Amino acid sequence: MDLAGRVAIVTGGAMGIGFAIAEALAAQGASVVIADLKDGAAAADKLRAKGHKAAHVDADVSSEDDTRRMARVAADTFGRIDILVNNAAIYSTLSLKPFEQLTVADWRKMLDVNVIGQFLCCKAVLPAFKTNGGGRIINISSGVAFKGNPGMLHYVASKGAIVSMTRTLATELGEHGVLVNSVAPGFTLSDGVHRNPGLAGTVAAFSVRNRALKRDMLPADVVGAVSFFAGPSAAFITGQTLVVDGGAYYH
Ligand SMILES: NC(=O)c1ccc[n+]([C@@H]2O[C@H](COP(=O)([O-])OP(=O)(O)OC[C@H]3O[C@@H](n4cnc5c(N)ncnc54)[C@H](O)[C@@H]3O)[C@@H](O)[C@H]2O)c1
Repeated sequence: MDLAGRVAIVTGGAMGIGFAIAEALAAQGASVVIADLKDGAAAADKLRAKGHKAAHVDADVSSEDDTRRMARVAADTFGRIDILVNNAAIYSTLSLKPFEQLTVADWRKMLDVNVIGQFLCCKAVLPAFKTNGGGRIINISSGVAFKGNPGMLHYVASKGAIVSMTRTLATELGEHGVLVNSVAPGFTLSDGVHRNPGLAGTVAAFSVRNRALKRDMLPADVVGAVSFFAGPSAAFITGQTLVVDGGAYYH
């Protein structure tokens, strides 16, 4: 129960990797606020049914008003905010296409959610972190940022931005006791991926072949790294990105 008394916000926590993270943090004693476009209420119900402390807020991370409301709901419900997991992103709904078929609108939507969304969430929780004298931010990047995967240039660029943003935020926020780290998962059979035959069908087999550990990666494989960065063992680690992919890219 390393996180007893802590309050965590998990964006995109209604399903997939985000829900697995929310459940793991709650199991370690944190009160968890699930912030998602939809289905947050059902996810929070599932956590409460297991005896955890949980709430939800319907929020679009690319909206500044929504992210401010997200922080308000967390602080009003549980009295403080200690941990932000920036997990929400456009990923599992992607259809793979060569870069010359991507439009400027595709790029803007991607950057709005995946990059500006993380920026807005960090900004929204900072006043609460300053009040506490510290906090933890864990940004979800992706192994694609290091491998240069084809067919999703705008997504790869957005996840590369998260690695860079993590470093600068760590530098700027260190004096406030805020630690900022990133986790970069490999291809993971999340709920969203299961619903997208283009990803599940083609990328899954290729990914297993190209990693040292020859099995599918599941959302549960991501949670250990996030819990570590959120907990007391990581108290002097900031600005880092940990690749969790069964040994596909050695970072
Ligand atoms: N699944 C993978 O193979 C994989 C690999 C590396 C990194 N990642 C990253 O892990 C994270 C989770 O991936 P996943 O596969 O579980 O995704 P998913 O598509 O299954 O779930 C994403 C969640 O984010 C929510 N979301 C999307 N846009 C949002 C917005 N604007 N505001 C609030 N919530 C929003 C969705 O509603 C959904 O609940 C993402 O950051 C993704 O880029 C995934």
